Amino acid sequence: MLVNRIVLLTALLVCCSFIATAKRGFNPHIDLRYHPLHRMSSSFDDVSSSSGSGYTYQWFTQQVDHFDQANTETFQQRYIVNDDFYVSGGPVFMIINGEGPMGLNTVSPQALQAAAWAQEFNALLVTLEHRYYGASFVTDDLSTDSLEYLSSQQALADNAVFRQFIAQEYSIPQGSKWVAFGGSYAGALTSWFRIKYPNLVDFVVASSGPVNAEIDFYQYLEVVQNSLETTANGQQCVANIAVATQKIQSMLTESNYGGVNDMFNLCPPLESDNDVSTFMQSLAGNFMGVVQYNDDGTNNPDINTLCATMTNEQNDPLTNYLEVWNQFAEGDCVDVSYESMIEELQNTTNDANTIGGRMWFYQTCTEFGYYQTSDSPNQPFGNLFGYEFNVQQCNDVFGFDFLPNVNWTHTDYGALNPVGTNVLYVNGKIDPWHALGIYQNPPIGQSELPSLFINGSSHCQDMMVPNIFTPSTLPPAQAQIQAWIQTQLNQ
Ligand SMILES: *[C@@H]1O[C@H](CO)[C@@H](O)[C@H](O)[C@H]1NC(C)=O
Ligand SMILES: *[C@@H]1O[C@H](CO)[C@@H](O)[C@H](O)[C@H]1NC(C)=O
Ligand SMILES: *[C@@H]1O[C@H](CO)[C@@H](O)[C@H](O)[C@H]1NC(C)=O
Repeated sequence: MLVNRIVLLTALLVCCSFIATAKRGFNPHIDLRYHPLHRMSSSFDDVSSSSGSGYTYQWFTQQVDHFDQANTETFQQRYIVNDDFYVSGGPVFMIINGEGPMGLNTVSPQALQAAAWAQEFNALLVTLEHRYYGASFVTDDLSTDSLEYLSSQQALADNAVFRQFIAQEYSIPQGSKWVAFGGSYAGALTSWFRIKYPNLVDFVVASSGPVNAEIDFYQYLEVVQNSLETTANGQQCVANIAVATQKIQSMLTESNYGGVNDMFNLCPPLESDNDVSTFMQSLAGNFMGVVQYNDDGTNNPDINTLCATMTNEQNDPLTNYLEVWNQFAEGDCVDVSYESMIEELQNTTNDANTIGGRMWFYQTCTEFGYYQTSDSPNQPFGNLFGYEFNVQQCNDVFGFDFLPNVNWTHTDYGALNPVGTNVLYVNGKIDPWHALGIYQNPPIGQSELPSLFINGSSHCQDMMVPNIFTPSTLPPAQAQIQAWIQTQLNQ
């Protein structure tokens, strides 16, 4: 009895001290979504209040189901208005939000380029939080059944109803121009808002929008490779990652995973093929996050410093790769167990302060896929986190026995060949997401659906007010966007 209790107590102590120092491994469903609008939500809240503008959250009553008029249930949806710059008769700028909490900085001209433009064009600036994310809870919990009303179609309809609400609330004159902006998933939403509701919005700027939903998004890592190759010594950087990866993959086939657990300080140690896949994905994940958000002003290191570490000639490639891993681990052991990753996504509690991994994962499992697999041979991160590993997670988290219905998403929105007018598609060449976006359309002035493909620019970087890290290619591109807005407003 006593012995048992001591064993139990020791087990508890081991368990808990171990949890305290464990860093969670990379989770693509969460960690690639800290795009600027989410990440700065706390830091820029202070800027706006100290500048005296006093933007505040407001709430309005929204339909739970726009597609069943017999369902009269409603929920409270959060929005923000910045009328600091508005002059009656001026345009209305709508920022469309995506898969995360909406920060007050969304309407701050110090943060968001569209807000700075609102100042120039005397626009009313309004923004609606995406249903289910942040504090815009639709249901009491996030059980799989409760997520029934989470879809891009419902989100677009929310914005349509919100647009009418603002028109009435602010007595916007007939003939005023309505303009929408958004980035990433919200960039796709923004383009679809104009395509689906041309009566409600005159023109839109859609940044980094992956409009071509694809389950096996193998091109993501190909762009990661291309982007790393743009650095000094980039070819060597990629070659060294490939050498290190091959070495690790061969160690993993040895008994006890060839010492990988100790080398990479993994806790708990690897136990299954799924753990191995999660680990290999975490190794790649360090690079994925840096490339996606390269030089956006908040991320350190960037692709240059990462490749400088990878090409340090004092060490062999594996040692350099381990060095990168340790930079991210910051001395902690790293939990790359598949079970931990799935458990985090199984949490059904509503919480306004989380990034919303479960909800976004639900949307990928139903509508979009977007899984950054290792299925392409043209990337240096090995081949152990492929299609099967990714799609099984929809089953393990939600019990789904079907694939994401990207065919319906294409049918509904037109994928890479939408029919419509007045959408400007903006993408960054460094950003891996551009591979699923529209970046080869004719330029501004030569198309109803023009595109702008910015060299050296990362995910949604064109949406942010420039800072000291901004590549020199970005301000001229932003000037082109602004000129397009001016032209559209004059029509
Ligand atoms: C689930 O999420 C809630 C809200 O973020 C959190 O308080 C709780 O600790 C989580 N539960 C588990 C088991 O991680
Ligand atoms: C989607 O369409 C493709 C090609 O048209 C087809 O091969 C595939 O089976 C479809 N997928 C689903 C889930 O219907
Ligand atoms: C794009 O940027 C890369 C790397 O900075 C540079 O080498 C290349 O010349 C640029 N291409 C164009 C078309 O400006």
